[in-house]
Amino acid sequence: MGYRVAVVGATGNVGREMLNILDERQFPVTEVTALASKRSAGKQVSFGDKTLTVKELDGFDFTGYDFALFSAGGSISAKYGPIAASQGCIVIDNSSHYRMDPDVPLIVPEVNPEAAAGYTKKNIIANPNCSTAQMVVALKPLHDVAKIKRVVVSTYQSVSGAGNDAMDELFNQTKGMFVHDEPSPEKFTKQIAFNVIPHIDMFMDDRYTKEEWKMVVETKKIIDPAIKLTATCVRVPTFVGHAESINIEFENELSADQARDILREAPGIMVIDNPDENGYVTPVECVGDYATFISRIRDDATVDNGLNLWCVSDNLRKGAALNTVQIAELVGREYLKKAA
Ligand code: A2P
Repeated sequence: MGYRVAVVGATGNVGREMLNILDERQFPVTEVTALASKRSAGKQVSFGDKTLTVKELDGFDFTGYDFALFSAGGSISAKYGPIAASQGCIVIDNSSHYRMDPDVPLIVPEVNPEAAAGYTKKNIIANPNCSTAQMVVALKPLHDVAKIKRVVVSTYQSVSGAGNDAMDELFNQTKGMFVHDEPSPEKFTKQIAFNVIPHIDMFMDDRYTKEEWKMVVETKKIIDPAIKLTATCVRVPTFVGHAESINIEFENELSADQARDILREAPGIMVIDNPDENGYVTPVECVGDYATFISRIRDDATVDNGLNLWCVSDNLRKGAALNTVQIAELVGREYLKKAA
């Protein structure tokens, strides 16, 4: 016995990773269905050594499916999520649409697995923003020991987080620069090749971006509403892998050495922190991995109980597809209990 799983947005960056990860982790499935827009109906996508023929989402009947893993954008989740949920299927949604809904748990399995029990209210569970997901995996074990007061985070986010077209834009712009044929920005607001852009998602009334706001409110919902956080989110010309510079101020004493020891034991974390041998992780080195890598852990002498660290993870994996599959594993194991 296994689960019937539908992947919504199966032709996209994250959807394809969901299929890879379901296969890699041998998620117990009896059936996997790939769904996307009408444009993609009939196309083939890989699922391990098999191929699946993509079906059209519109009109699809989710009855009898255990999980629908959505990654086709917020408006698709808003329209089709409740349909799948009302047909008895547990929706695990990668968009931002349901994250702050008080009746929808927002889950990172290493951090707040117990909150998943609330899925029964709407049959929907939300997956956090990619930058939040990797950060909270690192913050939680430190918060448990020394209580975080305040976090200042700056992100260096790859273009894959903005979808397939955004990756094409970086590729074509970079190529174009060498032949003096620079395509104008479409997906991004400014040139992304050989540049960095401090603008991800829309600007809000307070002049922060929505991406920055998401990091604030999602961290509070997942770990602790008392944590103060301020963020600057920046798009950089890398294809996959998000990096973050994180400054943390704690209530209680915590040295860099202690933090290194705590993080070495923490689930989902890999500490690589040996500056003498260039022992730190960069985005290209994390691609395809499950771990969130922590490097450059340093005491911040400018405040009481402060630390700086560098955090890198594959945004399509821990930031999206892996976390989604881990949530399905958690719900399967704790609540549905169908054996493989
Ligand atoms: P499609 O390829 O048919 O457009 P990405 O964020 O990497 O660009 O991927 C977006 C995903 O969302 C793709 O799988 C895309 O399918 C899917 N998608 C976009 N619009 C719709 C829609 N109206 N119905 C179903 N899936 C959609």
